[in-house]
Amino acid sequence: MQIKVSDTFLQPLIKINRTMRAKIVAGNWKMNKTAQEALTLTQEIIEGLKNVELGANKQVIVCPPSLYLSSVKNTTENSKLQVGAQNCHQNDFGAYTGEISVPMLQSLDIPYVILGHSERRTYFGETDEQIKEKVDKVLAYDLKVIYCCGELLAVRETGAYFDLVKQQISTALFHLTPTQLQNVVIAYEPVWAIGTGVTASPEQAEEMHAHIRHLIAEQYNQEIADQMTILYGGSCKPSNAASLFSKPNVDGGLIGGAALKADSFLGIIACM
Ligand code: PGA
Repeated sequence: MQIKVSDTFLQPLIKINRTMRAKIVAGNWKMNKTAQEALTLTQEIIEGLKNVELGANKQVIVCPPSLYLSSVKNTTENSKLQVGAQNCHQNDFGAYTGEISVPMLQSLDIPYVILGHSERRTYFGETDEQIKEKVDKVLAYDLKVIYCCGELLAVRETGAYFDLVKQQISTALFHLTPTQLQNVVIAYEPVWAIGTGVTASPEQAEEMHAHIRHLIAEQYNQEIADQMTILYGGSCKPSNAASLFSKPNVDGGLIGGAALKADSFLGIIACM
C-alpha cells in the first residue's frame, strides 16, 4: 500500500528544517562606488537596518571592493551589518601583484569571502581546482566562504545544468569535513540571470536548490544538508525577492545591481 503524505503534514517539518539554518542577504558591490559613495551606502544600510528585526538566524552582509574593506568594516562597528570580501588569493603572502590574501582579510576581522563568482571564472579564468584551493585557505583561517556555482545559458539550453552544478560543487567542496562545511554558504547563480534582468523563476531556483541540498545529503547526511544555507543570485530585486525567498530551499540571496542602492537592498532584506 502506498502511503500518501499530505502537504499539511509536511509543511511543519519543512519549517523546522528551515529554521535550523541561517538566512542571509549579501550584497556584492563588484567594481562599483568611489570611497565616499561606499561609506554613504554603508551608512544608509546601517540606518535602514535599525528598523529591521533580524532575529538570531538572519544575517546581512556587504562585500565592497577590497580597497574599502577597512573603512566599511570600521563604519559597521556596533551595527547589524557584516562585511565580506569578493575574492582572495590561495597563498598566504608573496609576490602576487594586485592580489589580497586571507591573512590580510583576517587581520581586518572580515568574516566572509565570496569565491567562484562567475565573473571570476569568466574574466579571470578561475577553475574549480583553483577555487578549491581558495576554499581550503579561507577555511584554514576560520573565515567563511560564500561559494558561487551556476550554469551558462548554453548549458541551461542543453539541459545539463544539474550535472554541471554537481561537478562544480563536488570539485570545490566535497573534500571538506562536515565541520569545515559548516563554514560554507552556497550561492546558486545561473550565469544567464546575472546582471541581465532575467531572473530564474522561483520554481527554477527551488529545483536547483533542492538538487544541491540532495547532493549534500548524499555526500554527507540529511542533517548537514538541512543546515546548509543556499542563496539565490541573479537579477534578484525587491519585486521578485519575496516569491524567490518563499521557496523552502531558498535561504536568501546574493545581490549585485540591487545592492548598490540602500532602498532596493533594504527592500530585499525585508523579504528575508
Ligand atoms: P545581479 O548580480 O544581482 O546584478 O544579477 C548577482 C551577482 O553577480 O552576485
